[in-house]
Amino acid sequence: MQPYLKNKKIVLGITGCIAAYKAAELVRLLKKEGAEVHVIMTASAKEFITPLTLQTLSNNPVHDRLFNQHLDVKIDHIHLARWADAFLIAPATANIIAKLAHGLADDLLSTTCLATTAPICIAPAMNQAMWSNAITQKNIATLQQQGMNIFTPDEGEQACGEIGIGRLLAPQDILRLLHSVFVPKLFENQRILITAGPTIEPIDPTRYLSNYSSGKMGYALAEAAVNCGATVTLITGPTSLSVPLGLANYIKVDSADAMYKAVMEHIEEQQILISTAAVSDYRIRETAPQKIKKSSETMSLQLVLNPDILASVSARKLCPFIVGFAAETERLYERAQEKLEDKSLDLLVANQVGPDKGFQSDHNSVTVFTRGGDPISLENQSKVQLAYELLKIIHQVK
Ligand SMILES: Cc1cc2nc3c(=O)[nH]c(=O)nc-3n(C[C@H](O)[C@H](O)[C@H](O)COP(=O)(O)O)c2cc1C
Repeated sequence: MQPYLKNKKIVLGITGCIAAYKAAELVRLLKKEGAEVHVIMTASAKEFITPLTLQTLSNNPVHDRLFNQHLDVKIDHIHLARWADAFLIAPATANIIAKLAHGLADDLLSTTCLATTAPICIAPAMNQAMWSNAITQKNIATLQQQGMNIFTPDEGEQACGEIGIGRLLAPQDILRLLHSVFVPKLFENQRILITAGPTIEPIDPTRYLSNYSSGKMGYALAEAAVNCGATVTLITGPTSLSVPLGLANYIKVDSADAMYKAVMEHIEEQQILISTAAVSDYRIRETAPQKIKKSSETMSLQLVLNPDILASVSARKLCPFIVGFAAETERLYERAQEKLEDKSLDLLVANQVGPDKGFQSDHNSVTVFTRGGDPISLENQSKVQLAYELLKIIHQVK
């Protein structure tokens, strides 16, 4: 779910690449997000994928001719240029990139791009030699200077059998980058440190103590904060999640102690700390050097308290604005208020955890506690949506 794509008007330009078939998935994903899509195809694009596929998926006529006597004047090139909230050319050939860099307007797509004032996003796809060609690179630099957004292609094996940079980004990633164009830049030039995921405390070389945290909330916040213009450092315990796009630093740790050290190393010059990680309160006093063998009916593990990351940052005044998270199974309001006071936090996000609630789920409902203000309830929604709502509140309170 990419909340800022809802009801956005997108003109999708498709050009003559092998990867043109991926544009069909892109249209499907855009529609799923609630965007309205009009597709413009170049003559070459139609050699690779049929307009009928795009027309069916977009639920709109496909535009492919500049000179069209039968065209309704309401959807000519000027109208499309004005209608769009954003242009996305995916996949973009070396040819359309060159044409845009030089202001050519010899077909519907290039003419409409020249006529629009909406942001233009370009997702190139081409053979690696075409991509690294100095002329293509010069054209890309020109488009960037003009303020166009370039979604740099992936590296890997190509349809032609060569290996290098030039593969079209995955449709999901293109969608995420397009979405970021619409996100208000609430945290421009601000540094935000986010902790996420569980920590693990080793018992012996084969076992550990941990918790059910998936890291989804922290990762969603990290990506949302990047999209809001922040310089984001993500310090994470072990998770199975893919790394958010656009992070300044991505630091993987295991234990609570390692997370503590990583936070202390990076907290300087951060404007905001958002601590979503479920940090183990205790660790094993002595990790066994070898696998512990089964011997008696019962066994005991001696635990010692871990350093409290939030309390330490707060007590030493290492960060001007500190946000904590509290996962509670009972007495949510009282516990949240206590934690806010005890650790001198600026804001606390509390949620009830239990079966199907909180940790592993893609959705959550939370209550936000601030100093002196009334608690704010955020109803059940995706963690991605929740991340943007929380950042809006942090921006207001800060
Ligand atoms: C089979 C085949 C695959 C092609 N794949 C690409 C490609 O991935 N990227 C690219 O820039 N050009 C590719 N081309 C070349 C473009 O189709 C050609 O430059 C065309 O003029 C582009 O027109 P357009 O930019 O108006 O769509 C390919 C050509 C063929 C025949």
